[in-house]
Amino acid sequence: MSNTSDTRLVDLDEDGVDRAFRADVLAGLKQAQKAVPARWFYDERGSQLFEDITQVEEYYPTRAETEILRSRGGEFAEMIGAGRAVVEFGSGSSVKTPLLLSAIEPGAYVPLDISGEFLRAAAADLSAKFPGLPVHPVEADFTKRVDLPDAVVDMPKLGFFPGSTIGNMVPRTATDLLRSMRETLGDEALLLIGMDLIKSRKVLEAAYDDAAGVTADFNLNLLTRINRELGGDIPVQSFRHEARWSDTFARIEMHLVATEDVQFTVSGERFTMAAGESIHTENSHKFGKRSGNMLLLAGHWTPVARWTDEQERFSLVLAKATIKRSAP
Ligand code: AVJ
Repeated sequence: MSNTSDTRLVDLDEDGVDRAFRADVLAGLKQAQKAVPARWFYDERGSQLFEDITQVEEYYPTRAETEILRSRGGEFAEMIGAGRAVVEFGSGSSVKTPLLLSAIEPGAYVPLDISGEFLRAAAADLSAKFPGLPVHPVEADFTKRVDLPDAVVDMPKLGFFPGSTIGNMVPRTATDLLRSMRETLGDEALLLIGMDLIKSRKVLEAAYDDAAGVTADFNLNLLTRINRELGGDIPVQSFRHEARWSDTFARIEMHLVATEDVQFTVSGERFTMAAGESIHTENSHKFGKRSGNMLLLAGHWTPVARWTDEQERFSLVLAKATIKRSAP
């Protein structure tokens, strides 16, 4: 059996509060550099704001990756071949996934997501667009090895992880995730993964601090969510959005910076911040050809092909499962 079930994977307490959210926020606010994991951006409003971000002029990754998927279908078909079960890590977006599926003649489509709601919507959307294609959604936490449905166990797999979501993770966590994917997909697997590229600080900082303020709203919405779901009284108007390039880590960091001294309560606990102090809310790592390949190799994937958009802003890398061997 697969691990699909009606049981939601979120653990709520007697007041309907998501225990993991509360634990992450309280632990993060007690650190010297306050921090909240980026996965908590995506409540309903946050998911909508991310969709809006993908439409703003300065945010190039979605357009660049879509350009590659549109223009390189013939090469994907040639290198990937027909009949693979496409396993998407995260529910498929309405644009990117159909571009891949129509290029390669897949044997099945298996979206994996921790949110049953997003998963069912994506599965229904894809089934409508590809009537003959078997679709097997699996509600699962894909940071661990996932048991795939019986119907696809004997098919060769293609993992699909677009969007440079891998860039949200620090190298250690990214490596763990890639190794879990390798375990989920098996020895014959391929992986097609989106990796955003290192470029000028100016272009990167603008992509994460657009003039219309959509990314600022996306970042600040995290405070609104904390206030609503964790009974907080954070003065949202006393924080501003900041996007900083870190050359050491090759990443954009998003912060929420206190513009004055503030005190607030979350889930009954008291916190203070001095003016200028920040809550670190997201990392978005960027890659070069070698650093991207090195990360994949550390995660037991061997790069076999790499495509970029015309302006070389974004890459899609095809890798094959590394086979363990004892000789050098
Ligand atoms: C969804 C993780 C790929 O890091 O570019 C966009 C999220 N954050 N703008 C990214 C995001 C701010 C996005 N990913």
